[in-house]
Amino acid sequence: MPIVAFYSKDSNTDLLEEWEQRLRLYFPSIKLVDLLSYKAENAITALLWKAPLFRVKELKNLKALISLGQGVDHILKDNIINTKIPIVRIVDPYMAKSMSHWVIISVLNFTRDTFGYYDQQKSKTYKARKEVNFTNVKIAIYGMGAIGRVVARDLKQLGFKIYGWSRTPKNISGVICYRDRDKFEFLLNTCDIHICLLPLTSETANIFDKSSFKMMKFGSCFINAGRGEQVVEEDLIEYCKSGQISHAILDVYCKEPLPKNSRLWEQENIKIWPHVAAETNPETAAKQIAKAIKCIENGKTPPNTIDIKVGY
Ligand code: NAP
Ligand code: GLV
Repeated sequence: MPIVAFYSKDSNTDLLEEWEQRLRLYFPSIKLVDLLSYKAENAITALLWKAPLFRVKELKNLKALISLGQGVDHILKDNIINTKIPIVRIVDPYMAKSMSHWVIISVLNFTRDTFGYYDQQKSKTYKARKEVNFTNVKIAIYGMGAIGRVVARDLKQLGFKIYGWSRTPKNISGVICYRDRDKFEFLLNTCDIHICLLPLTSETANIFDKSSFKMMKFGSCFINAGRGEQVVEEDLIEYCKSGQISHAILDVYCKEPLPKNSRLWEQENIKIWPHVAAETNPETAAKQIAKAIKCIENGKTPPNTIDIKVGY
């Protein structure tokens, strides 16, 4: 019977039970145990979301770690974990589409001036606001991976001009794809809407700081569903105050849950979502996780094992 140590921050027993039931559809003998319980000592695999890493480190029988999300930064954080064992992540088309929906809401709220109309309602003002020609709106997507490329294609379908930025070259029909630092700067200078869908690594930490915001066009829109640590939050607030960034829509933060005393809450042109842009869905993700656990049990490397050298 394969024993899997399970931990999901803010989880309750129900979530462990839900995952166990879902995984048993594909791997009937699987048993999930709480990472913090003594039973986890026998686990070969751990299924983790923002787990206490010192506890993970204590489990000497682990042969692989599986992230309960598409990002793995919560496992690689602070270099606590032995990175010689495989780290596997979820790559779920459902999540990519879900992110795409969230980005589309955010983009359309900006281009259709939703918040301006909602403000007008407060004073019963029945008046057309300035319309933008959406075919001229240039959107930069930073991160063209499993999620970014789906978002790019869907936004393209809506009639926007799409630019992508990644570490390695890409060839995606209808999307102008760039790499390298000078192209990052070109996109900051050129585009009207900036969407961060990057993984958190040493290269992407604080990538959106004063110097990046300064390069954006006056009145730009900034959308972040990558990771909070990619943004210097105080710099973002400063540039939102000046109007250089006319709207920021955020789903992720340096500290989560976003503390009550964070100044981000106060800034009217910053919209706050509580890290829900693309949630892991046990129903759609269970099959691939069960497959990964089977691979690990059989001494094989599962699909979607990350390249530890690049850190995502
Ligand atoms: P992915 O498939 O690994 O794609 C990452 C993309 O970022 C790739 O295109 C990669 O370039 C690019 N990239 C990485 N480092 C770079 C650098 N230094 N310079 C330029 N480009 C770089 O990841 P994913 O599955 O699309 O997910 C992306 C991130 O979204 C996750 O890591 C997570 O942080 C976040 N996420 C958030 C939510 C949410 O609900 N808010 C949900 C899911 C995921 P290459 O293609 O060249 O490798
Ligand atoms: C969510 O943030 C994820 O990485 O899946």
